[in-house]
Amino acid sequence: MIPGHPTQLLQKLSREHRLAPLEWEALIGGYTPELAAQAAELARDFREPFYGKKIFIRGLIEFTNYCRNDCLYCGIRRSNRNAPRYRLNREEILSCCETGWELGFRTFVLQGGEDPWFTDERICELVRAIKKRWPECAVTLSIGEREEESYRKFREAGADRYLLRHETADECHYRRLHPPELSLSHRLDCLRTLKRLGFQTGAGFMVGSPGQTVGTLAKDLVFLQEFQPDMVGIGPFLPHHDTPFAGEPAGSGELTLYLLSLIRILLPQVLLPATTALGTLLPNGREQGMLAGANVVMPNLSPEDVRDKYTLYDNKLHSGSEAAEGLRRLQESMAAIGYQVVCDRGDRAKRQP
Ligand code: 5AD
Repeated sequence: MIPGHPTQLLQKLSREHRLAPLEWEALIGGYTPELAAQAAELARDFREPFYGKKIFIRGLIEFTNYCRNDCLYCGIRRSNRNAPRYRLNREEILSCCETGWELGFRTFVLQGGEDPWFTDERICELVRAIKKRWPECAVTLSIGEREEESYRKFREAGADRYLLRHETADECHYRRLHPPELSLSHRLDCLRTLKRLGFQTGAGFMVGSPGQTVGTLAKDLVFLQEFQPDMVGIGPFLPHHDTPFAGEPAGSGELTLYLLSLIRILLPQVLLPATTALGTLLPNGREQGMLAGANVVMPNLSPEDVRDKYTLYDNKLHSGSEAAEGLRRLQESMAAIGYQVVCDRGDRAKRQP
């Protein structure tokens, strides 16, 4: 089959919300600024009936940077002896939520390395405590790969959502990014399990990670098309100086924005954050992300003294200000481009009948 012209493929994607692998390659590889502008306009049109001008916020709590894994790209990989490690205790975590709740956050994202100290029981206890104190909030977990039984317990404890980026849908690329004990097939098993257990589930990948090609990106989009996640997290790869990828170039901001638009057209109701990595790479990255089709931002609620320690990559964006000030500035910058930051759980829009 001969893939068509990129503009035609964009139209086909808008009509059918799916493409064949070679068509994805031609559409992604056909990137030009003009094509990206067309994709962004379509993305905004597809988002409109579901979300209007609403932007959802999630309070991100980076509660541990201990990690048993050794992913080659990540600054908190276990073999990075230079990373000062920390864990927040129960009271510190609840106090982040309290601050967030007062500011209007109705989703809390507990994100951390794969830290065995946080046993299933400890995670469940935290989830129960948050849901008991703030029953109207949504709790999202982002703590990596665990057993099905663990995921089931988290769900029973009240967790609503789970973020687990697939990182890349290409076997060979997956092995280049990860140590031998990690596998794409297990990653995908985890994602399918999470979905089956009733989590609103998020997948995603970095843009421009070492070894990524137009072909691997096409596989990522085919995977998203098949898996139909509720959320998709993508951001540029950014090197971290204490990892094997220290000398690798950062991913492209423009390509990230283009892919955000394609993902919005593919999955019109998806919850799509403009990530911290995008905000770190591009000036006004979050605003540009919204204009490309994103509808979520995840401001940091972690205590200021640990924010610098949760460094997956170098130069991580942080406002250097307290949460309240950061939120006010976010609201202002979103209002300036015509978007309204709203204070609700921000669940995914239902599929049309
Ligand atoms: N650059 C950009 N993103 C990164 N992540 C980890 N390390 C980096 C990096 N160096 C992303 C991974 C992970 C998420 C929490 O952060 O995709 O799933």
